[in-house]
Amino acid sequence: MPNTGLNTSGWVSLILGWGFILCLAFFCLFKLLTKKKPAGAAADHGHAKRDYWATRAGLILAMAGNAVGLGNFLRFPVKAAANGGGAFLVPYFIALLVLGIPLMWVEWSIGRYGGSRGHGTTPGMFSLLWKHPIAKYLGAFGIFLPFMIGTYYVFIEAWTLGYAWFSATGAYMGHESREAMRHFLLGFQGVESNNFFTSIGPVIVFVGITLALNYLFLVRGISKGIEVLARYGMPLLFVFAIVLVIRVLTLGAPDPALPDQSISAGLGFMWNADFSRLSQAGVWLVAAGQIFFTLSLGQGMINTYASYVKETEDVTLNGLATSSLNEFAEVILGGTIAIPVAVAFFGIIETQNIAAQGAFDLGFVSLPVIFQKIPFGQLFGTLWFLLLFIAAVTSSVAMTQPAVAFFVDEFKWSRFKAVNWTFGILLLCTALVVSFYKYGFLDELDFWIGTLGLALFAVIEVVVFSWIFGIDKGFAEMHKGADIKVPGVFKFVIKYITPLYLLVILGTWTYQEAGAKLLMHDLKPEDAGNKPYLWGARGLILAVVLLTLVLIYKAWQSKRHEAAKS
Ligand code: TRP
Repeated sequence: MPNTGLNTSGWVSLILGWGFILCLAFFCLFKLLTKKKPAGAAADHGHAKRDYWATRAGLILAMAGNAVGLGNFLRFPVKAAANGGGAFLVPYFIALLVLGIPLMWVEWSIGRYGGSRGHGTTPGMFSLLWKHPIAKYLGAFGIFLPFMIGTYYVFIEAWTLGYAWFSATGAYMGHESREAMRHFLLGFQGVESNNFFTSIGPVIVFVGITLALNYLFLVRGISKGIEVLARYGMPLLFVFAIVLVIRVLTLGAPDPALPDQSISAGLGFMWNADFSRLSQAGVWLVAAGQIFFTLSLGQGMINTYASYVKETEDVTLNGLATSSLNEFAEVILGGTIAIPVAVAFFGIIETQNIAAQGAFDLGFVSLPVIFQKIPFGQLFGTLWFLLLFIAAVTSSVAMTQPAVAFFVDEFKWSRFKAVNWTFGILLLCTALVVSFYKYGFLDELDFWIGTLGLALFAVIEVVVFSWIFGIDKGFAEMHKGADIKVPGVFKFVIKYITPLYLLVILGTWTYQEAGAKLLMHDLKPEDAGNKPYLWGARGLILAVVLLTLVLIYKAWQSKRHEAAKS
């Protein structure tokens, strides 16, 4: 394969893609700096005691922390490289405009509306938007989806912490083949016992530290815990990422004997557009799915964070700023680190194989090999895994907060009690994920919860907002205290295009994948033994869903008692 680096289509997609995101980001920054209006007094709906975000910068960083996660640095590059490179950006940006940014505004608006009336989670929020007894149960998604994602996300988060430690201490030095590093990973994950790891003890230690850190930030609350984490963590994350980007861009061709294997070839692989791929429905689905993942949409995570925004404070500019920060981290930083560096060291064909193996192979197998080949590799390895860890921890606290908020708001529990119970249940679930990882437990959860679940909930949410609550009322709510006016065309987009687009995605997924998945027909013959564990994963999902529904029932029952007494 002739290896030309960036061609014309590559330069065009790079410049348009980066340009679009940088314009959005600078627009937000400019507006933020020039629109300094004094905050008015919040209307008191009788819930003035909420733990609100202390500062606007803290709020935006916390929301960006929520959104910027492993998806930005591992999942995006792999998906883009496997789905047409630069041409992937076309469906990706369309999904950003018709799904991502509109849903971001919708979730901020619903969240703030609910929060100022004492509800930090979607059961309460939906019952305000729609006076129907079923509304609160539909809102259950906004608790169990993020919680269930959290049960396996913390496991991956623990790997990043473990690998930061292994990089700093040089634990994997001297194993420069991908084969060896794959066994290192499998040993660490507890999939096999080998000469690197003979037990899952080490990974359990890192899971423990990860859970403890998450616990500490959550128990301190919104302004003193999560906001503080974001105010220090997010700038650090951006510094680490920019250092790594500069290191990658200055690598040139690391092996003089193989001039074709260079960073410019890597950038070419990432951005040169293969427009023939755009006729495949799958590419459009992947792009839309990636938008959900990366912006943390369709799962109640944004709603809960937005419930701690005062009613007089803006959501339109803040929502747009969150989205553009996330896209900066994803397309510009995430797109420039992992894949180009893999091409420079392994060549294009190998990198395609790596990308086909998925995000873990790239992040935890291929990159550690590279860190052993470059000067100060241990340092860059540590930076890379710490970057991933910060990205992950600022997201995992956001996955757990909805459950905590539910107990606090609807059962009037203290935050301490709420966090303890949430972590008790989380610990049980994560123990199952860790124990049964090798049987495909995590992937099973991720398909039903992290893929199908998000799209399903997003449809419900956008319909409740724009059809039941009403798009005109919704738009008025969105513009309370707004610093920028959302163009009127978005009324049309949110009411018609977003739900339609979502239904098409959902329909295609159900048609193409869910059937085979449900019956486990997609299982490779050698994995047939996994079936009981996959059923176990489904059982766990069902158990958590039922628990959430029962808790919602209980909460509303006791509310009725309260109301009857007074
Ligand atoms: N947005 C974050 C990320 O990009 C975290 C996240 C939210 C997530 N929802 C998810 C990750 C669903 C996996 C699946 O990583």
